This record gives sequence, C-alpha cells and structure tokens, in this order.
Amino acid sequence: MVGGRRAVFLPFSREPVLSASTAPLKLIAHPVARLTGKVRAPGDKSVSHRALMFGALAMGETVITGLLQGEDVLCTAAALRALGADISREQDVWRVRGFGVGGGREPDDVLDLGNSGTSARLLSGILASHPFTSFMTGDASLRRRPMQRVIEPLSRMGARFQSREGGRMPLAIVGTDEMVPIEYRLPVASAQVKSCILLAGLNTAGETTVIEPQATRDHTERMLRHFGAEVREAPVEGGHGKRITVVGWPELKARKIAVPGDPSSAAFAVVAACIRPDSDVLIENVGINPLRAGLYTTLVEMGADITFENRREVGGEPVADLHVRGGGLTGVEVPADRAPTMIDEYPILAVAAAFAEGTTRMLGLAELRAKESDRLSSVAAGLAANGVQHEVGAESLTVHGTGASPAGGGLVKTHLDHRIAMSFLVLGLGTREPVAVDDGSPIDTSFPGFMTQMNGLGAKIEAA
Ligand code: S3P
Repeated sequence: MVGGRRAVFLPFSREPVLSASTAPLKLIAHPVARLTGKVRAPGDKSVSHRALMFGALAMGETVITGLLQGEDVLCTAAALRALGADISREQDVWRVRGFGVGGGREPDDVLDLGNSGTSARLLSGILASHPFTSFMTGDASLRRRPMQRVIEPLSRMGARFQSREGGRMPLAIVGTDEMVPIEYRLPVASAQVKSCILLAGLNTAGETTVIEPQATRDHTERMLRHFGAEVREAPVEGGHGKRITVVGWPELKARKIAVPGDPSSAAFAVVAACIRPDSDVLIENVGINPLRAGLYTTLVEMGADITFENRREVGGEPVADLHVRGGGLTGVEVPADRAPTMIDEYPILAVAAAFAEGTTRMLGLAELRAKESDRLSSVAAGLAANGVQHEVGAESLTVHGTGASPAGGGLVKTHLDHRIAMSFLVLGLGTREPVAVDDGSPIDTSFPGFMTQMNGLGAKIEAA
C-alpha cells in the first residue's frame, strides 16, 4: 500500500501506479488434510532493500538477481530513483547505476515509503548525511511507527528533523554532509537502527560505531564488506552483543548480488506443513543466517520434523532447502534472548503453538508492539477470535495448545500487517472451521504470490 491506496507496479514501469481501489481484500482459509510439494522461498526482504541501497551508493553497475519484488522493496527502489540512482529491471535481473557515497541529489517530492519501516529507517541514514532537505511519509501503519529511534542518533551526528508528535512521520530531514562520527549504544535491539547509523557513517569522516547489546541481523555488515567498505566487529557483553565500526568515505564498488530466499516468508509454508499431519513439503533456497533462524531452532525444539538439505552460500548468506514433514508439536519456552533472531516470526510461531500439545511461552516481546501493527495485541485478538487459549502480557505471550485442532471460525483484523494476515490464514488450514482475515492486501508488501504458492501445496485460501 502506498499512502493508504493500493500500489500497482506494472512489470516494466519505473513508478507505482496508484489504483483507485481502497477496498480491503477479505480472504478466507479452509481446513485441509495435508500439504505436499516443492516451492521456492521468495527473495529476502531485508537483503533486497540493502542490495538496492548499496548499489545506489556504489559507483558502476550493480546487478541483482532474486530480488524480492514486493511493494516494500519497490518503495525503496522508487526513493533511490528520486535520489538519482538509475534502476532498471528485465525479467529477474535488476541493474542499479549508483551515484556514489554522498552523491545523491535532492528529491523533487515527498518520498512515500508505503508500509515499509525498513525503507524509512535505512533511507533516513542516507538522507540525513546529504546536504539537503527531504521529506518522507507512509501509509497509516508506517505513520504510527516510532522514528525517534533514528532521529536521536542522527541528530547527534548533526542532522535536524521535524516530525509529528513522538517522532512520527511525516518527517522532514534537514541533512548535512558535515556529520560527526559517533559511538552509539542501541537502546533497543534493532537492525534497522543499527543499519541507519552505519549508512550515515558512510558519508561521515572518521569512524562511526554502533554497540548492540544483543546481536541482530547482520546483512548490512556482510553486504557493506562485499561492496568494499571497512567494517570491524568485536564481541561485547559476554559475547551476546557486538561493537560494529564503519570507516567513513569508502569508495563502494558495484557488485553482483544473488538474493537468498527469505526465512521469514518461508516460515508460513514450514508451519503450515508442521501443523498438518502427513504433510511433506520442500521449501528451496531458504536463508538460514543464524541471526534470522530462531524460528527454525524453536520449531525443532518443539519436535518438528525439519531437515536442512543442500546447505550452501548464496550472496554471502548461508542457505538450505528445508524438508518438512507434518505432525507432533509440543509446547516449549522460547527465551527472551532469542527474540532478535526471530522478531518477525512470533505471529506464525503463535499459530504453531496453537496446534502443539502443551504450553508455549514466548518472552522478551516488547518490540512486537512497534511493528506494522501492535503484533502482541493483533495476535492475541486473532487467537481469541478462533478459540485458542492464551495469555498476553506487556512483553510476553503464552499459548495453551491441546494437541487437537483449535475451533477457528473467526474473522481476524490485520491492521495493515502482512504477517498477521498470512499467519492467521495458515491457522485456518488446520482449524475445525475456516478462518477469515479482513484485509489480505498488505501481503503484497513482502510476499506477492503467497496465496498461489500456498494453494499449490494443497492449501485452500480464497477471496471471501
Ligand atoms: C529489519 C529489521 C527488523 C525486522 C524488519 C526488517 C531489517 O526490524 O522486524 O522486518 O531489514 O533490518 P527492527 O530492526 O525494528 O527490529
């Protein structure tokens, strides 16, 4: 969604065409016996954003394959074009001719980042370190999300901001090319904030350092090195956290990048197969970076039958094909320190927990309240609507499974949150009655083709 309206991206067009339709897309999932077959995970959203951004900050032509063609990533592409990058696509191959570190031009208009928090947070690091004023906004979900977490460190570096109350978008960024390097300790575990500061550090003389108390996804660090930047890392806080330093003003060199499949998107087919006994599904090309793979660790602890086949590297990231056979989950306790490695997967884990025998306790979930929706509330409401016993706390969720299929029959509010929509559609594949979601249109932000892929495996998801 862009600015609250549906964005349609024509295959070879450069900009989104806003359709007049504002109608929510109600979807319903019907119970099925089992899922079988082979699918390929769509491109990783986090890696796709970064591939486009670093391509734009490099000199020469970066060639990207496997890029996620979701609305969020297309918002990043549109913003980078507004900054002067030349981005084109032919079939699965994207080409980015960059403007170099600090070489972007002032955008003519407000940058509309739709539903995408990653675009907003990471791009603010780039925009703040350019000597012009830029403006960004997004849909109703993004305009509710906290931006103070990037405003604070970027202000310390020398940029100035105007925002709505509480650091909410729309946001005006008064940038500077005379930023001062900082050493910044993250108050929350956030790869977006870390990446924002490292991106600003690229166009800053000297060394910019981020200290993260808990390690978060490291795609920025990996890819920056691949483009030729000097990025140093050292462990802190007994090995749980990291101190990451980027050396300013590198000359980033255009690269070839193959984007691995997204473990956060693969999660839906994996859990769907786990909750339907006799399922047998192969999901190819799933990124299993240890800082992203917490859901898979947890499912294995719950007794899921998952084998990691054909382990290899794609685009500097570890990847495997996941072979999943259904049946027999048991409740577990998921420790708080695992949260950064599965932060987007709690809604779908709650669905798996609803089918497990026994209680699953998930701890350390405060950040879930700052996602595309307040995910703790959205998940709790969805579980309640479908007869799943649970308790929700300020930072925790406890789901009581009986080992039998939950009732289902509910209508779940998605609050412009793609992962709430997909998670509860998966729930409906195993409940006694079908499960509906009030609006499945945000699914296109991260997983266009979700319905087709799931139905190809034997799911029955359709417009209601
Ligand atoms: C992301 C980081 C996470 C995650 C988001 C993508 C990234 O957000 O939830 O979907 O690409 O860096 P936070 O950094 O806010 O935890």
